[in-house]
Amino acid sequence: MPEKILIDTDPGIDDAFAILYALKSPDFDVLGLTTVYGNARIEQTTHNARALVDMGGKPCPVAQGAADPLVIERRAFPAMVHGEDGFGGCSPAQVQAPLSAQSAPDFIIETIRANPGDVTLVPIGPLTNIAAALQQAPEIAGLVKGVSIMGGAANVNGNVTPAAEANIYDDPEAAEIVFAAPWTVTMLGLDATHQVPLTRDNVARLAEEGGANGRFLAAAAEQYFGFHTDVVGLDFCHFHDPSALIAISQPALFTRQQSSVRVVCEGFAAGKTIAKPLPRFSAQPGWDQRAMVEVCTGANGAGVIVHYLEVMTA
Ligand code: BDR
Ligand code: CA
Repeated sequence: MPEKILIDTDPGIDDAFAILYALKSPDFDVLGLTTVYGNARIEQTTHNARALVDMGGKPCPVAQGAADPLVIERRAFPAMVHGEDGFGGCSPAQVQAPLSAQSAPDFIIETIRANPGDVTLVPIGPLTNIAAALQQAPEIAGLVKGVSIMGGAANVNGNVTPAAEANIYDDPEAAEIVFAAPWTVTMLGLDATHQVPLTRDNVARLAEEGGANGRFLAAAAEQYFGFHTDVVGLDFCHFHDPSALIAISQPALFTRQQSSVRVVCEGFAAGKTIAKPLPRFSAQPGWDQRAMVEVCTGANGAGVIVHYLEVMTA
């Protein structure tokens, strides 16, 4: 049976790689996309999510969510990573997929209540909508199957600051709410995604054998490769958002450590995720009375890419 998933997203080039994979893979039944600001402003990320539903050819609802973080002022949009339009200049002018009348948190709550024990949430943007849904209806924590988050950095540096990964940095208070809730979270952060390199050769294969969607992803990825080369100094891209989905469909490709996770909300380390592996002692209280988080500590990067290309070129 395909996994029923709900993707909360800020598309975003790697979000596009993730969502077109989810819509194509036989392992997933995508119940909807909820949108959040992050890689661009909310109107743009919502437009891009609807464009992806058009491209994916498998209709699913799109519900618009937060324009701003819960508490802090919104950070600057990362145009140098994803382009002004979030898709490296490739966002289609027109979209067909309808926009739901519901807000993202309402849609999340209703979908979880309608499918008790069956839905896995896959947040691949800032965690604002997920935290808002929890605040509105705390019982959803006991009704989901799981939560597979792209975000955080446990034992490695961040990517937007030395301390923080982008999705957590964008809304640390929301992330702290999500990591504290009594549900099973998988944290698929930079510890794992920095071990999954997407190369220009991989993308050339997508363009050749992946049909119209492969060509779209290859064109959008130009911006992403440019950022990785010019700013990060790498000749490949980190494959962030698709990895949160592949951790569900191909769990053996990732190593995990049961931990509790807390988020630094203020100061120069804001957005840092601190993970305490379950068996470790802490003299300070507040670490052991928290929900269990499976922190992905590593990945079989080659295996992840082989699997991704297999699905996208089938
Ligand atoms: C995360 O930040 C965004 O730029 C990407 O879409 C991904 O979700 C990686 O840190
Ligand atoms: Ca994203």
